[in-house]
Amino acid sequence: MVMIRHEVIEKNVILLAVLTLVTVSIGGLVQIVPLFTIETTIERVEGVRPYSPLELAGRNIYLREGCYTCHSQQIRPFRDELERYGHYSLAAESMYDHPFQWGSKRTGPDLARVGGKYSNEWHYAHLVDPRSVVPESIMPPYGFLLRPLKFDGIADHLRALRAIGVPYTEEMIANARADLIAQANPDADATGLLARYPKAVQAAFDGNPSVVTEMDALIAYLQMLGTLVNFAEVTPEQLRQ
Ligand code: HEC
Repeated sequence: MVMIRHEVIEKNVILLAVLTLVTVSIGGLVQIVPLFTIETTIERVEGVRPYSPLELAGRNIYLREGCYTCHSQQIRPFRDELERYGHYSLAAESMYDHPFQWGSKRTGPDLARVGGKYSNEWHYAHLVDPRSVVPESIMPPYGFLLRPLKFDGIADHLRALRAIGVPYTEEMIANARADLIAQANPDADATGLLARYPKAVQAAFDGNPSVVTEMDALIAYLQMLGTLVNFAEVTPEQLRQ
């Protein structure tokens, strides 16, 4: 009897299509509707802030050069990854990334927590000639990044990100150029920069404080990756909500 009823459906394309749609919709709703009852799927952890102007410029170079084609920025919650890279990545850590850089390709190591792992000098030497510090490396050299950084549009870039939800303030936008220059010069006054962007690393990243280069911006970005959240203070409850 059941077989015969099913035959009716199988022989009628329209009926089959309608019933398929109904079945698939139910499956979809069961997955999606519960999400409406949670306010956010992003953990509420302390410390995550928008990128400083120099870090943001460095991030743009990271995208332009396609570093993501060889490097992921997402540590998965598996033991081997935790032991190699540190705490698994939280959604909160990439909430201001447009677009996010999670990736899935790992020709090189994951970079989600590379900030602070090496000195600025190491990054400089590594980018200019990877094989000078890691003899077996297959990473391409990026010495050409020692050219001056173009940052005339940096305030507009902050404005554009604000339009899609990154909480840059008027003050941050007004000071974007000054903050960018100050971060790349260790002798500059960093009070405003650090008040606006806590934990921002200030340095002559490429060893030369007189010109802000693309290398400065890229190293500033690499040095902040994964450094904003203090995992010693994160409670299991914060991760579970
Ligand atoms: C063709 C693939 C490839 C590309 C493109 C590439 N890398 Fe790499 N990268 C590697 C490999 C392989 C390693 C591991 C060997 C080494 O340390 O050089 C590495 C290592 C690194 C490390 C050290 C990570 C650690 O934890 O030891 C950093 C930092 C890095 N790359 C940054 C970058 C940046 C920034 C770019 C873009 C400008 C980039 N890479 C582009 C392949 C690549």
